[in-house]
Amino acid sequence: MENLSLKKVTSAWIITILTLFVLAITFGITMRLNQGNDISISPVNFYSLMTVHGLTMIGIWSVAGMVAVNYLLARYVKVSVKLNTFSLIFTAIGIIMLWVAAFIGKFHAGWTFLYPLPFQIAWEKWATPMFLFSLVVMGTSWLVWSIGMILQILKKYSLKQTFAWQHFSKNPSVETPPLILITTVSLIGIIVCLLTAVLLLVLLFAEYYSSGSFVNDPLLMKNLTYFFGHTLANESLYLGLAALYELMPEVSGKPKLKTTWYVALGWNSTLVFVLTAFFHHLYMDFVQPLGFQMIGQFASYFASIPAATVTAFSVIMLVLRNRIEWSLTNILFFIGVVGWVIGGVGAVIDATVTNNVILHNTLWVPAHFHTYNAMGNVLFCLAFFNWAANEFTNNQDIFKNYKLTIKLLLIGGFGFVLMFYFGGAYSVPRRFAIYPSEFTYASYFAKFGALFALIYLIAILFIFYDILKKCIKTLSY
Ligand code: HEM
Repeated sequence: MENLSLKKVTSAWIITILTLFVLAITFGITMRLNQGNDISISPVNFYSLMTVHGLTMIGIWSVAGMVAVNYLLARYVKVSVKLNTFSLIFTAIGIIMLWVAAFIGKFHAGWTFLYPLPFQIAWEKWATPMFLFSLVVMGTSWLVWSIGMILQILKKYSLKQTFAWQHFSKNPSVETPPLILITTVSLIGIIVCLLTAVLLLVLLFAEYYSSGSFVNDPLLMKNLTYFFGHTLANESLYLGLAALYELMPEVSGKPKLKTTWYVALGWNSTLVFVLTAFFHHLYMDFVQPLGFQMIGQFASYFASIPAATVTAFSVIMLVLRNRIEWSLTNILFFIGVVGWVIGGVGAVIDATVTNNVILHNTLWVPAHFHTYNAMGNVLFCLAFFNWAANEFTNNQDIFKNYKLTIKLLLIGGFGFVLMFYFGGAYSVPRRFAIYPSEFTYASYFAKFGALFALIYLIAILFIFYDILKKCIKTLSY
C-alpha cells in the first residue's frame, strides 16, 4: 500500500513540477508578448526563453506522468521510493544545469537542439556541453526509474500478461488492470526513446570532443532527434491516460474500467504505431527514403486511432450512461480528453503530406501540440495531483468551489491555442521572435494569445494554491 514516504516524495514532485510549470508559462507569455510587439526582448533572450520553456515543459510533463503511475502502481505491485527520490534529485539538478546553460550561458538552440545547431556556438562556449550534460543527468535518471518500474511490474505479471494478450481469448484466468497495460506500453516506448537519446548524445559528444576528426550525418541525427523528442512527448501523454483509466471511474462513483479485447488491441497497436509516427517530421527532407515518408503518414493515422477511439469511447460511455458525481478531478480528466482529441485531429491534419506542404513549420505545429499538452496531458496530470493531494490529507474534492476556475481554464486554454491555429491557417511561421510586416495579423494573434494564456495561468494558480497547501501539509507529517 501507499506509505508515508511515497506520499511525501510524490508531494515534493507535485510542488516542484507545478512551480516550474508556472515559471515556464510566464516564459511562454513573455514570448507571446514579444511576438505581439507589446514588449521588446533581444532575439538571443527570446530563443533562450524558447529553449528553456520547451524543454522544461516537455520534461516536467513527461515526468509528471511517471510520478502519477508510480504512485498508482503501488496498488498492484511494490514500488521503489528510493528510485523515485533519486529521479527527483537528478531532475532538479538537470533543470538547474539547463537553466544555467540558457540564461547565463545564453544557449538558445531550441528544445530540439537540432544538429548541427548546438555546435554553431553563438553563446558561451561552456554552454553547449552544460546543456548536453543537463540532458544526460535528467535522461539517465528517468531511464533508470522507468526500467525499475517495468521490473517491478514483471515481478508480478508475466510479459504476455503485461500486454494483456490473454484478453484476446474468452474468460482470461488473470485480469490485467488497464493501469498495468497502459503503463507497460508507455514505459517501453519511453525506454526506447531514452536509449535513442543516449545514442544521440554519444554521437554529439563524439563530434564535440573530436576536434573535427569525427563529423555526424545530419539526416541520421535528425531522425534520432525526432524519434526521441516526438515519441517521448507522445508516450508521456499515455501515462496521464493510465491515471485516467485508474481514477476517473473511481472518483465518479462507478465500477473500474476493465481491460477488454479491444482495449488490449488498441494499446498494443499504439505501441507499434507511436514509435514510427515521428517520420512525419521529415516530410520536407527530400533525401529521406520515400518508404519512410509513407510510414510516417500512415503510422500517424493509426497511432491516433486505437488509443484515442478506445479511450474516448470508454469515457463517453462512462459520462453518458451514468449520473456522474462531478469533482475537480474528473472534470479535469474529461476536459483533458476533449483537448487531447482536438489536438490529435490537428496533428493528423498536419501529418497528411498534402497539408504538411502548407502547414510545415507554421504556427499550426505549436497549435496542435499545445492543445494536447496544455489542454490534454497537463489536465490529466493535474487531475491526479488534485486527487492525490486530497487523498494525502483526507480532504473532499468539492467541485462547486472550482466553477469559476474551470471557466477560466476553458476560456484561457482554448483561446490561447486558437490564436496559434489562426496563425497556422494564415501561414505565420513558428519560432519567429518578431513577425515580418507581411504577416499582417500575426502580432494580433500573439497579443490575444498572451491575454488568453494569462487567463489560463490564473486558473492554474487557483488550482495550484489548493494543491500546494495540501502537499506542504503532507511533507510536514
Ligand atoms: C499557457 C501556457 C503556455 C504558453 C503561454 C506557451 C507559449 C509558447 C510559445 C509562445 C512558444 C513559441 C511558439 C513559436 O513561435 O514557435 C512555445 C513553444 C513551445 N511550447 Fe509552449 N506554451 C505554453 C504551454 C506549453 C506546454 C504545457 C507545453 C508542453 C507540455 C509546451 C511546450 C512547448 C514546446 C515544446 C515548444 C517549442 C519550443 C521550441 O520550438 O524549441 N508549452 N510555447
